[in-house]
Amino acid sequence: MNTKIIGTGSYVPERVVTNDDLADMVDTSDEWIRTRTGIRKRHVSEGEGTAAMAAEAARRAMENGGVGPEDIDLILVGTTTADDCFPSAACEVQKAIGAVGAVGFDISAACSGFIFALNTAEALLKSYGYRTGLVIGADNLSKIVDWSDRSTCVLFGDGAGAAVVRVLEEEEDRDGGGILAADMGSDGRKAEVLRCQSRTMGNFLTGTKPEPGYITMEGQEVFKFAVKKVPECIQRVLEKGGLDAGDIKYFVLHQANYRICESIAKRLKVSMDKIPMNIEHYGNTSGATIPILLDELNREGKLEPGDKIILAGFGAGLTWGAVLLQW
Ligand code: COA
Repeated sequence: MNTKIIGTGSYVPERVVTNDDLADMVDTSDEWIRTRTGIRKRHVSEGEGTAAMAAEAARRAMENGGVGPEDIDLILVGTTTADDCFPSAACEVQKAIGAVGAVGFDISAACSGFIFALNTAEALLKSYGYRTGLVIGADNLSKIVDWSDRSTCVLFGDGAGAAVVRVLEEEEDRDGGGILAADMGSDGRKAEVLRCQSRTMGNFLTGTKPEPGYITMEGQEVFKFAVKKVPECIQRVLEKGGLDAGDIKYFVLHQANYRICESIAKRLKVSMDKIPMNIEHYGNTSGATIPILLDELNREGKLEPGDKIILAGFGAGLTWGAVLLQW
């Protein structure tokens, strides 16, 4: 049995915010943002929630994969910005797309959310005998960004990406492949370097009401962590799959910073031709960056049966993960 991605979809809100727009709000410049991060613009929700974006990405992925809501057994959403504490974004997506026969829940792993959700989906599909899963990475970070903090507000954007994952019997799929190897990790000792305190401030004894929180970050610590952990994690999936970096067509990396991706490429000793990028258009959309990029590659016809690709990400937690798959 192979667990394969058979369809992809993505969605970003219409409203575009350029670096110059941000320079009107905080003490920054297009030049600073471009040279430090590679970002030129981002899409920002003007009211659309995480579930609405996720549901649209899901519809596009189902159409691309040729499946309907009645086919979906499992819905996992990698997100840390569900519209409500509960219900989960996955249950909201279930309602929106009418996948009444599915079970849905969210995975909280920040920007690693899609990778963690994909790995979890693969395990559940196999162990529970499900056939078709919808794996989504969706985030609405604009609602938890402090728009007066120039060190974080320039980095993030909103969006959603989705993949339909199906277990195929060998007679259905002579190409073979699918998910070949996976690796995930977390280090809670580093929680402070990237945090959003939210929904956690209420206190019975003092009578304090919950207050909304916003993102705080030690940028250089995150940078150093990412350029060390992501290549190590990629090496592990390569070893598990018995391959080396030269066998991989694309490394589809979390889009947090162009320089982080360059540094990962250098450590893997691969050229930037193998590292597709779209950060300049969207910024860091957290759990959505990897499935949005994957969807773009798929729709541009850049993925052919037999191609080996690695998806890899990192984020708050701290968390990191990678998946090796054959398209
Ligand atoms: N515009 C202009 N200046 C800015 C700025 C902005 N938006 N943000 C910070 N600065 C200033 C700082 O105040 C500092 O000024 P100082 O030297 O006078 O103190 C200077 O720029 C350098 O700041 P520093 O934080 O050292 O810059 P950097 O080269 O590390 O780049 C990041 C900052 C955030 C772009 C970079 O650290 C990064 O991308 N880290 C990873 C963050 C990330 O990916 N987070 C999400 C993970 S999922």
